[in-house]
Amino acid sequence: MRVLVTGGSGYIGSHTLVTLLQERHDVFTVDNFSNSSPETFNRVMRLSNQTFDFEEADVNDADAMSSIFSAFEPEAVIHFAGLKAVGESEEKPLLYYQENLNGTMNLLAQMDKINCRNIVFSSSATVYGIPEFLPYTEDHPLNPINVYGRTKLWSEQIISDWAATDPSKSAMLLRYFNPVGAHDSGQIGEDPSGIPNNLMPFISQVAIGRRPYLNVFGDDFDTKDGTGVRDYIHISDLASGHVKALDYISQHKGVEAVNLGTGEGVSVLEMVHAFETASGQKIDYKIMPRRKGDLAANWADSRKAETLLNWKATKTIHDMCADTWRWQSQNPNGYEPQS
Ligand code: NAD
Ligand code: UFG
Repeated sequence: MRVLVTGGSGYIGSHTLVTLLQERHDVFTVDNFSNSSPETFNRVMRLSNQTFDFEEADVNDADAMSSIFSAFEPEAVIHFAGLKAVGESEEKPLLYYQENLNGTMNLLAQMDKINCRNIVFSSSATVYGIPEFLPYTEDHPLNPINVYGRTKLWSEQIISDWAATDPSKSAMLLRYFNPVGAHDSGQIGEDPSGIPNNLMPFISQVAIGRRPYLNVFGDDFDTKDGTGVRDYIHISDLASGHVKALDYISQHKGVEAVNLGTGEGVSVLEMVHAFETASGQKIDYKIMPRRKGDLAANWADSRKAETLLNWKATKTIHDMCADTWRWQSQNPNGYEPQS
């Protein structure tokens, strides 16, 4: 299938590109490199042994997107491009609404112009908000507690309204839980700029010696060991979920929201110990006060993905830690040239 991938140079996009290319999809990708490096594409091409076309462009740029859509004529779009930092979204709400909502609307308008009717959208478990029950099923109430989460919820709504205009349209709203890990080659992985906000990149930077210790945000939650519990999903499993979603929307019409998680909750301290075992490195940590806005625990009900997409996560916590460590130790400065 001819697939336009937005944000293909990012963490999830790059791993999905490898899987799409291995499955022989014809890919064109667009990225403005605001949070990634063009070096990613060299590595994706080497890993998949395939080439693809890309353009440096902003999904908000209607003229640039219009030319790309008319030239490539995609049959489907996978839309990763967007801003994703929860804290920053609270400080700059208008920027987040501008980037994430306008970007999505512009894409849908371009799709209409060339009669492209299929879209897979990067949503997030954050759309559920404070759990009324766990695991979250797809019909759990949607009450995001931050601006970033609202951009995801409202994008889901915009896409659903777009799809409702024509019964031949199809959309898959993928609600990711906590993506971690790296390609098992160690060639591509997560490369956050500045101080990582998320647990796994922080742990791996402690392991490589870039940070002295991990701050564990709270040990007094009502969880198995008092630390926060999340559903971590290996990035390669997440990537294969996108290819399954693409297969599904090419054969079914309408809109579906689907959780992509493992269905299992892992605590911060369990992750620290698993990383120590996988890497052979000691991870020093300090218990700190809770981080504002953090939930005690959440994890996915992953049965819908299994029934609808015939997809199930296969990688273990050990795989997630071992692959993160391989990427981090082979690329201590991420995609930056090694000094
Ligand atoms: P990322 O920042 O690594 O990738 C996003 C990519 O989009 C980057 O390469 C960036 O340069 C590009 N981009 C951003 N704005 C753009 C624009 N206006 N035009 C063109 N390109 C643009 O993030 P990721 O972790 O790969 O996330 C991908 C998607 O998945 C995002 O929409 C994110 O909100 C969503 N998501 C991520 C997580 C997570 O924990 N990583 C969880 C749930 C949902
Ligand atoms: N944590 C620490 N120390 C750190 C970082 C995190 O103890 O330095 C803890 C957090 O308190 C939490 C757990 O590790 O208990 C996971 O935190 P992350 O920041 O890695 O992930 P979140 O669950 O907070 O958020 C992630 C994404 C969001 C997305 C959400 C739901 O960052 O974008 O999952 O999908 F919205």
